[in-house]
Amino acid sequence: MMQKLIVTGGKRLEGELVLQGSKNSALPIMAAALLAEGECVLKNCPRLTDVYSASRILGCLGCKSSFSDNTVTVDSSAADCAVIPEELMREMRSSIMFMGAMLGRMKECTISVPGGCELGPRPIDMHLSAVRKMGVEVSETGGRIVCRIPSGRPKGAKITLPFPSVGATENVVLCAVLADGETVVNNAAREPEICDLCGFLRACGADITGDGESRIVIRGKEHLHGCEYTIMPDRIVGATYLSLIAAAGGEIILKNTCSAEMEPFISVLEQTGCSIYPAKDRIYMRSGARLRAVSSPIRTMPHPGFPTDAQAVLMAALSVADGTSVFEENIFDCRYRHTDALIKMGADIQVMGRIAVVKGVNRLHGADVRATDLRGGAALAVAAAAADGVTEISGISHIDRGYEKIEEAFRQLGGNMKRV
Ligand code: UD1
Repeated sequence: MMQKLIVTGGKRLEGELVLQGSKNSALPIMAAALLAEGECVLKNCPRLTDVYSASRILGCLGCKSSFSDNTVTVDSSAADCAVIPEELMREMRSSIMFMGAMLGRMKECTISVPGGCELGPRPIDMHLSAVRKMGVEVSETGGRIVCRIPSGRPKGAKITLPFPSVGATENVVLCAVLADGETVVNNAAREPEICDLCGFLRACGADITGDGESRIVIRGKEHLHGCEYTIMPDRIVGATYLSLIAAAGGEIILKNTCSAEMEPFISVLEQTGCSIYPAKDRIYMRSGARLRAVSSPIRTMPHPGFPTDAQAVLMAALSVADGTSVFEENIFDCRYRHTDALIKMGADIQVMGRIAVVKGVNRLHGADVRATDLRGGAALAVAAAAADGVTEISGISHIDRGYEKIEEAFRQLGGNMKRV
């Protein structure tokens, strides 16, 4: 049976929430645990379907992993396989992170083109050309990608990425920490999750500097060891719950946050008239009497720009603001798939290529809608909370890839969301 979320909206929300750990940190860090020839204890790990997929991949490579609440323990001492079956690769796009980790640990790997969100074409050309520079021979046949290293070990290289891709930056770092010599990544992505991955690897004994800036330097080591590490909070889930309060009206204390890393989102949300008080690890927010449109275009950009992952949830909120807001999506080609469902709920949105023009309406109304991707699905939940009447959201496996118990979070804020 496919599950649905049933949301009865139109109610002011209020309460406290503890923010979950970051999915986009947990996944590369779980892949990185393969590089540590011992036990890694990862705290604040969100319990999500994508995290379980990563754990199945680790199992198939000969690693043991176990969960206890939000702690996952990975023991990679017996890792003995460098092949990921196609069906596991297809479950999520982050499976590509295992390429760099397997090359570092096993010096070879066989994978296939990964699956993931339907955000338009998501090629892996930058990942492949970067590892080629590190002495890896890549051959592609019938959808399978076979990587070998004739010299026996990845070698340090100077790599300039054509675009600061998050995944390609992470893959190079993973491949480089056990490489022979020094690797320099220019035009590296600067997302906070990259710093989290590097922080974890440093705790395992890696030598990395410059993460968070556009030039990362990695000096290869012979071995890494296990460690205990706490995964950072999920800034996109944080942005989702702040958008929820903005849309429905109300107030929230969000605990265990990463306020500094959320600044690019918070500075835009503040323009809607919400009062936001970020402290180091918590955020208090109160919505204004009526949400205001954002006057300058909201352009998604690599960090520290406005995050593409928060575009949909903010759009849901701005669809009930006073005035017109404009979005420009610069990271993915196909990231407005949530707009049809928002329009069905009464929103006034026009999409022209990478631009979306959102004219705020007075009220949204409940409707039967379908989530087509992770953040777009979360946007429907945000809109549903602001809408009059009942919204039935199907396709919620997309939402479950990134949100830990979303219905409980709604309930804690006094909202009405049921999973049926
Ligand atoms: C990561 C995040 C995702 C976020 C995105 C951008 C994870 C698990 N996912 O995805 O939530 O939306 O960063 O912040 O961390 N590209 C290429 N060739 C490549 C690689 C990427 O053309 O080899 C393109 C992509 O198609 C896309 C753009 O570059 O248009 C950005 O992609 P990238 O930064 O790599 O995103 P992901 O790592 O896939």
